[in-house]
Amino acid sequence: MTSPIIKPRIYAVGAIDWDRLLFDEIIPLPDGTSYNSYLIKGLEKTALIDTVDPTKERELVNNLQKLDVKIDYIISNHAEQDHSGSIGKILELYPDAKVVTSPKCKDMLKDLLLISEDRFHTVIDGEVLSLGDKTLKFIYTPWVHWPETMVTYLEEEKILFSCDFFGSHLASSDLFVMDETYVYRAAKRYYAEIMMPFRKIIQVNMEKIKDLDIEIVAPSHGPIYKNPRLIFDAYRDWISEDTKNEVIIPYISMHGTTRTMVEHLINALITKGVKVRPFNLSKTDIGELAMALVDASTIVIASPTVLTGPHPNAVYAAYLTNVLRPKLKFASVIGSYGWGGRMFEQITGLLNNLNVKIIDPVIIKGFPKGDDFKKLDKLADEIVNKHKDQNIIKNS
Ligand code: FEO
Repeated sequence: MTSPIIKPRIYAVGAIDWDRLLFDEIIPLPDGTSYNSYLIKGLEKTALIDTVDPTKERELVNNLQKLDVKIDYIISNHAEQDHSGSIGKILELYPDAKVVTSPKCKDMLKDLLLISEDRFHTVIDGEVLSLGDKTLKFIYTPWVHWPETMVTYLEEEKILFSCDFFGSHLASSDLFVMDETYVYRAAKRYYAEIMMPFRKIIQVNMEKIKDLDIEIVAPSHGPIYKNPRLIFDAYRDWISEDTKNEVIIPYISMHGTTRTMVEHLINALITKGVKVRPFNLSKTDIGELAMALVDASTIVIASPTVLTGPHPNAVYAAYLTNVLRPKLKFASVIGSYGWGGRMFEQITGLLNNLNVKIIDPVIIKGFPKGDDFKKLDKLADEIVNKHKDQNIIKNS
């Protein structure tokens, strides 16, 4: 089979990883992923845009050999090894090829892949490179996903090669997005896990590319967008300051006490018209939790006391939420203890990256009783009032 054709003389030559279950040894990949690499044959020069994870190097090489090309440039948009890890092999096969990248990415590639200085050609932000009848423009877009990331715009064909930016961890036989709902969900999960910590700088990067005339977005993970509005509108929504009338409750319960509190709070919030997403931390997929954090206004972390502090899974959820930096506006803690502990201080102390107001916790002794349930009702009232004050609940 020859490589799929995106447009005349523009080919997808990457690899689909149907079986990969984890990324960075932490992020679950329920739908696998792909490492997209693209070949552009100009009338004078040929460029390869990004490569593939080293585990899929053979597939990339096979795809290139079928096309019978000589590669002049390897464009490296991002130094992470799932895109750069096969550059060494391509340089070996094409001894005259140069790696075209930013100075920052060059330094990282030298450190990570031990590529020698003489194999690089560096480009500045906004610089163009002619392939004859096709022109590549390089635009620095830092922190989507690392500090060196850039995107490459093919001017004549109006294609944005965006690497991680706008990607999705999705192994699919569809070269292009066919099922927009399915891809939207995968892209949202990807945004939540990979991009959300950089929400503010993504706002700047979106501004930077907004005047480009883009007909196709070709990321380096997941299907290609022929309708870029789908992913651009989604990103504008996710990176905006707006949150939804939603409360996320990551919880864990050893003997049912915390669960009873969580169930009461869930019902109280539902009764008041708030959407609630509980996540049982003994079995939850952290990608699902991350995705829920994209839109939520409030998080309530629920935990029993273990020794003198929160359950370690609750600590993990708090730490993860903190590093993902969602646009949450409020946070609180509920849970119980037997003889003491400092659960509230320890959990809220882990949320220092977040710009949240802390709502008074409900930490009770033993199994909840009448007054304890009233405190949970009061917490639900307070959440609703704060959502109203912030105009999160409109016209209610
Ligand atoms: Fe897909 Fe940041 O690498």
